[in-house]
Amino acid sequence: MTPGYLALIIFVAIFAQVGMIMMLGLYRRHSEFKNKADEPACETEHADSQGDALLNEDPGWKGFREFIVIRRQIEDTQASICSFYLKPIDGQALPKFKPGQFLTFKLLIPDPATGQEKTVIRCYSLSDSYHPDYYRVSIKRVPSPDSRPELAPGVSSNYFHDHVEEGARLQIRAPSGHFHLNEEEELPVVLIGGGIGITPMLSILNTLLESGSQREIWLFYGVRNGSELVMHEHLRSLAKAHSRFHLHCCFSNPAVHEIEGVDYQHRGRVDIPLLHTTLGLQRYQFYICGPKPMMETLVPGLSELGVQSGDVYYESFGPATLVRQDRVKTETNQSIDRDITVTFSKSGKKISWDQNAESLLEFAEAQGIDVESGCRAGSCGSCQTIIESGEVGYNQQADADVEPGHCLLCITRPKNNLTLAA
Ligand SMILES: Cc1cc2nc3c(=O)[nH]c(=O)nc-3n(C[C@H](O)[C@H](O)[C@H](O)COP(=O)(O)OP(=O)(O)OC[C@H]3O[C@@H](n4cnc5c(N)ncnc54)[C@H](O)[C@@H]3O)c2cc1C
Ligand code: FES
Repeated sequence: MTPGYLALIIFVAIFAQVGMIMMLGLYRRHSEFKNKADEPACETEHADSQGDALLNEDPGWKGFREFIVIRRQIEDTQASICSFYLKPIDGQALPKFKPGQFLTFKLLIPDPATGQEKTVIRCYSLSDSYHPDYYRVSIKRVPSPDSRPELAPGVSSNYFHDHVEEGARLQIRAPSGHFHLNEEEELPVVLIGGGIGITPMLSILNTLLESGSQREIWLFYGVRNGSELVMHEHLRSLAKAHSRFHLHCCFSNPAVHEIEGVDYQHRGRVDIPLLHTTLGLQRYQFYICGPKPMMETLVPGLSELGVQSGDVYYESFGPATLVRQDRVKTETNQSIDRDITVTFSKSGKKISWDQNAESLLEFAEAQGIDVESGCRAGSCGSCQTIIESGEVGYNQQADADVEPGHCLLCITRPKNNLTLAA
């Protein structure tokens, strides 16, 4: 073998080896690429099953969890409603929630009078379907009442609008609340949202349409005019894409340029005659959230129409605006002993109960006793207090889960001599 021939063999061998290595490299990159292309489906499935596990075994987390605002989005032409997209700092998948439920926020807001930070607790409904990596809430800026312009505007809502930017961190309690979609019965669904009461309806609507459920859905959305509509384009595109979703925007005071049948479907408020003529006689599940006058007309009105109370679900955002007659606990209707003493053991105060006080919370505050509160409507659980002795009566059903031996001060009154750990 000549040296030239030997060199040729060595060269061919090296070339073949390099070629094989390159081929292997290409094959591995192709496999990686292919696996990557498959990944989203795997991830989604994994995240979903993790969500399911969390939903079934552990409804959420205990206490407050830290979130970061990843996005802000103004939702109406007046810029009075803003959505906040919230991602947990720990990066773990979020537990599933039931559409219609809300989050409870603990904010530290400087008091304009003293400059000192004050804890403010407020609830905001989840306004979208479940996503494993973020929650969304949509918050309306609350001004001072028209009749009392000298009062400060809403503390929490204005703080969100003016100070909670992308990157802000927030303390949030796990989703909760008994107002949510009933998924056990496959009845057609009628969603009725007045003003900002649209938020839980958006969550229910998006969930139903994304889930592929075949339930018919009606949304009656009551506002004054188009300037108050939230996510109108989103709603319109859903109505176009899904023949089983029927959108009915009701304008009580349309602007001059707004045309019935084009910009909105009905002139006037959402009322019983409208529901009656539009829906006919089938059985439906009704979900209602809106201002007090809307709830006070619709809830009893549906009952008069013969709708079973079990088919009507509702929530009001304000403090205890409406008490459902079939939920009123009888104990508060009974005459209460005139000489009840309420003892606040931590504050060392023993005081005669004031018959005119609406709740133990109102009573405690009037006596200068430091008690936590938030929604003042039995929803957030902030005013939960240990009962050391005695009994309380509930003005209405609690939305928050109350631990044994505790009571919610904002919706209770004493039935007899009472000692509270406050
Ligand atoms: C379960 C639940 C879900 C909710 N979901 C949503 C939601 O999705 N989106 C949303 O925007 N809101 C929602 N809310 C309402 C929300 O929790 C707050 O109540 C709302 O944002 C107002 O809070 P605030 O701190 O801004 O106003 P607050 O500070 O509580 O003030 C409310 C009003 O009282 C006036 N006021 C101030 N001082 C006095 C005084 N001394 N006397 C009389 N009036 C006074 C203020 O000017 C203001 O008009 C929900 C509430 C509940 C209970
Ligand atoms: S203040 Fe929210 S439950 Fe009482």
